[in-house]
Amino acid sequence: MKENSVEEYQELDKINLAKELTEQGILIFCKNLVKNYEIGDFIVKAVDNVSLDVNDGEFVVIEGPSGAGKTTLLNLIGGLDSPNSGTIYNQGVKITDMDQESLALFRLINSGFIFQNYNLISTLTAEENIMFPMNLSGMKFEEQRSHAVKLLKKMRLGDRREHLPFQLSAGEQQRVAIARALANNPPIILADEPTANLDKKTSLFIRDLFKELKSSEKTIIIATHDDDLIALADRIISFDEGKIVEEKQQPN
Ligand SMILES: Nc1ncnc2c1ncn2[C@@H]1O[C@H](COP(=O)(O)OP(=O)(O)O)[C@@H](O)[C@H]1O
Ligand SMILES: [Mg+2]
Repeated sequence: MKENSVEEYQELDKINLAKELTEQGILIFCKNLVKNYEIGDFIVKAVDNVSLDVNDGEFVVIEGPSGAGKTTLLNLIGGLDSPNSGTIYNQGVKITDMDQESLALFRLINSGFIFQNYNLISTLTAEENIMFPMNLSGMKFEEQRSHAVKLLKKMRLGDRREHLPFQLSAGEQQRVAIARALANNPPIILADEPTANLDKKTSLFIRDLFKELKSSEKTIIIATHDDDLIALADRIISFDEGKIVEEKQQPN
């Protein structure tokens, strides 16, 4: 009988694990993640040997003090950054093995990101910012535009199509950013303190959007201190010094 090479065994392991995760409804699987930042001789362990599973359709909140490593963890899970070591499967795909180009394509379709500082493209209008990910995914121009208009209306920004980011308030910019994150209808939404810099009214509007996303069975991971968002969570993970220090299930 032919002996498998080490690479073939690794490939078989990968396929078996992916199958097992899918059968168990685990959408995100992180094992022994480490992310260090080196500044001169000093090493910051931003994510320190973290293992974490997230189920399909689960709403997870990550809370913890500033500097705990929440942003770093979200960026690793979403494939915006790579760990020093450890493994991540996202929807049965081992993203820690992917090259940058494949990862960019995978992110485009599979995860919507919402950032604390909105990260809109400053030279594009509200409508163009929302069209951008649809354009990258190859959607027809007119379809991109009509979908962007629909999303803008949903965000109550129907009359802000031609505005550039600097002509929008903070709350309006974040609503454009949320529309952009939803543009390709990704199964996973990752949000990093999405209401941290916003007024109460906008925060509650965003809370209601997340409530709707939850009932449409999206998988949601949010780093936040916002009690209104925390109230929606199925599970609350407390994070400190790069580690999970507590996990609580929350009845909903
Ligand atoms: N690009 C970077 N270079 C160096 N250190 C960083 C970088 N990003 C984050 N850190 C450090 O990693 C730690 C975790 O940061 P971060 O993930 O932003 O935490 P949080 O989002 O919980 O506030 C902090 O100590 C921070 O200073
Ligand atoms: Mg952060």
